[in-house]
Amino acid sequence: MTARRATLDDLESIMVLERASFPTDAWSDAMMREELASPHSWYVVVEEAGNLVGYAGLRAPLGASDADIQTIAIAEGSRGRGRGRALLATLLAEAARRGAAVVFLEVRADNPAAQALYASEGFVELGRRPRYYQPDDVDAIVMRLDLPAWVARPRADGGASAADAGAVDAGACT
Ligand SMILES: CC(C)(COP(=O)(O)OP(=O)(O)OC[C@H]1O[C@@H](n2cnc3c(N)ncnc32)[C@H](O)[C@@H]1OP(=O)(O)O)[C@@H](O)C(=O)NCCC(=O)NCCS
Repeated sequence: MTARRATLDDLESIMVLERASFPTDAWSDAMMREELASPHSWYVVVEEAGNLVGYAGLRAPLGASDADIQTIAIAEGSRGRGRGRALLATLLAEAARRGAAVVFLEVRADNPAAQALYASEGFVELGRRPRYYQPDDVDAIVMRLDLPAWVARPRADGGASAADAGAVDAGACT
């Protein structure tokens, strides 16, 4: 799987997947545009046969000691084949490159697939924000990752290092 850096030209395709993946609480076009344009953000996309099948975003201001996983989504037909984990690893490697030591995220309490993904990479639950997601009235679970420990941890497959995970098709970057 090769991820490439997202550009503003990806906005429309990202929003199609955003609305399909988060039917009740999708971001607006304007919010996503702001995210893609921000120097504090770092978004990647993954394509198959020319179609965008995944995206993920990090917020990691340079020089800050902490970063946030903002979002991650894989198209329904492309799930379950390691793409979500690969995109998450790409974001974490970039957060480390930017000097972050801690990464935070929020995940819906009714989203066991995403929780399992995050826990398996070493995120631990910090606390809950009751009824954070509206209009669904669902709690947010706040999770935290010790980034140096993630960078140092042995890869299960003995393959890609954390640094390799950050490899993004440079030719496609802006
Ligand atoms: C969460 C999401 C990004 C995972 O992407 P994916 O490509 O399917 O995930 P992967 O194939 O890389 O799987 C990674 C891990 O996620 C967990 N996982 C994935 N699908 C799962 C499922 N249906 N049930 C339970 N755990 C699941 C497992 O821990 C899995 O590891 P394993 O394969 O070793 O068991 C994807 O389900 C998605 O886009 N969901 C809709 C959007 C969303 O909820 N985003 C997260 C917002 S916080």
